[in-house]
Amino acid sequence: MEKHEFQDYNFIQHELKLHDAAMESTSCGISISDARKPDMPLIYVNRAFCEMSGFLEEEVVGKNCRFLQGENRDQSARYIIREALDSGNHCQVLIKNYRKDGTFFWNDLIISPIRDKEGHLTHFVGVQNDVTDREEARREAAAKQIELEKTLETLKETQSMLIHSEKMNALGQMVAGVAHEINNPVAFVASNMHALKQMAEDLKGAYEQLNAAVDASGSEDLKAMARKLSQEADVDFISEDLDDLINSSSAGLKRVKGIVGSLRNFSRLDEADEKIASMKECIESTLEIAGSVVRNRLVIDCQLNDLSPIKCRPSELNQVFLNLIMNAAQAVKEDGRLEIKGSETTDALILTFTDNGLGMDAATQEKIFNPFFTTKQVGEGTGLGLSIAYKIITDGHNGKITVESKVGKGTSFTISLPKNA
Ligand SMILES: Cc1cc2nc3c(=O)[nH]c(=O)nc-3n(C[C@H](O)[C@H](O)[C@H](O)COP(=O)(O)O)c2cc1C
Ligand SMILES: Nc1ncnc2c1ncn2[C@@H]1O[C@H](COP(=O)(O)OP(=O)(O)OP(=O)(O)O)[C@@H](O)[C@H]1O
Ligand SMILES: [Mg+2]
Repeated sequence: MEKHEFQDYNFIQHELKLHDAAMESTSCGISISDARKPDMPLIYVNRAFCEMSGFLEEEVVGKNCRFLQGENRDQSARYIIREALDSGNHCQVLIKNYRKDGTFFWNDLIISPIRDKEGHLTHFVGVQNDVTDREEARREAAAKQIELEKTLETLKETQSMLIHSEKMNALGQMVAGVAHEINNPVAFVASNMHALKQMAEDLKGAYEQLNAAVDASGSEDLKAMARKLSQEADVDFISEDLDDLINSSSAGLKRVKGIVGSLRNFSRLDEADEKIASMKECIESTLEIAGSVVRNRLVIDCQLNDLSPIKCRPSELNQVFLNLIMNAAQAVKEDGRLEIKGSETTDALILTFTDNGLGMDAATQEKIFNPFFTTKQVGEGTGLGLSIAYKIITDGHNGKITVESKVGKGTSFTISLPKNA
């Protein structure tokens, strides 16, 4: 060997040693596999690779590095690696690997191709980093986040139920209170009316007898005086009108009684439990409640004849119907219409509430059953009506509530209630 050749040799030796020392002292795993041999066996692994994996160098050299995946072969990262290797490209993946003792670690793996001067692929170099702590912390945080979101959802739901049940309770109590207050005076007016009718008849009878007696007396003076008094007091008109007055007052009273009945029916504070009820009656009593608010906005067409009664909690269903009716009233402009129809199959009742109001776009429709979703101004809507309706129908009655709507055309809610829930 010439002197200069010897110096070159020494220099190269020195460089190689330096590279070796660098590879051995880094804390990243480094592995090299031969791309020209079948199944790309490892030809080199550094100290950090062995420490990370728990394998000795002689146990892994000559093997393909997939042994680190253990039984866990169906990872998307593996397919990314294959694609990179097949096309001679670089890749970076996060892959779950297993040490010799069976424990796992998350491997942040970078694989890069090595080419010779002519550009032919000769080797791949892999750089392995154990990122288990980071990855496990991230996964734990993500799981916690999901848990938190779920808790928040539940909280929101519970809160909305509480607010609503409070609202409905207050309304129910008020309605029941008003019904009770009205009931007493109505009862005595009704009984007075009855007495009044009787007395009016007695009075008329007495007057007729008096007239007959005057006629029979033969005294012209008496007759003239009787005629004069009768004309002045308009007795004929009074006796004719009295009947009409009494009859129409009785009819009015009957209506008031009907309304009181509906108010009690609606509040049904005593009937939170299940009972057999007719949906026609439930909806009609709810309409009676909503009537004064919606009457000047909506013409309501109710077609609910011949529906079988079902086992349900009527006070809850009344809340659902009230929410749907109020929403329709708030959605319509002029010529507002709400059609309430009922039909039945062998095992369910189907009720539809169709209005000709503003309608909703698809994005709104997706959210309407969420608690607190509202498009109304602050103070106008709490956004609870439909979320409560949903809960009552699905959880409370094993039924379904769906919506169909077109912007500018109107909205139709369909409720199906199983007959034997
Ligand atoms: C240089 C190099 C290093 C590799 N290092 C790892 C590794 O640390 N962990 C791993 O799971 N796979 C590693 N692989 C990938 C596997 O050896 C193999 O290519 C992969 O599982 C896809 O091939 P397969 O579907 O035939 O198993 C490495 C591949 C190369 C070329
Ligand atoms: N018939 C309907 N036509 C058009 N939009 C409707 C109709 N019913 C409901 N919506 C839309 O769904 C939203 C949610 O309705 P929901 O009854 O839950 O709450 P709200 O009416 O806004 O408030 P709350 O009922 O608590 O007073 C409404 O704000 C409205 O945008
Ligand atoms: Mg509403």
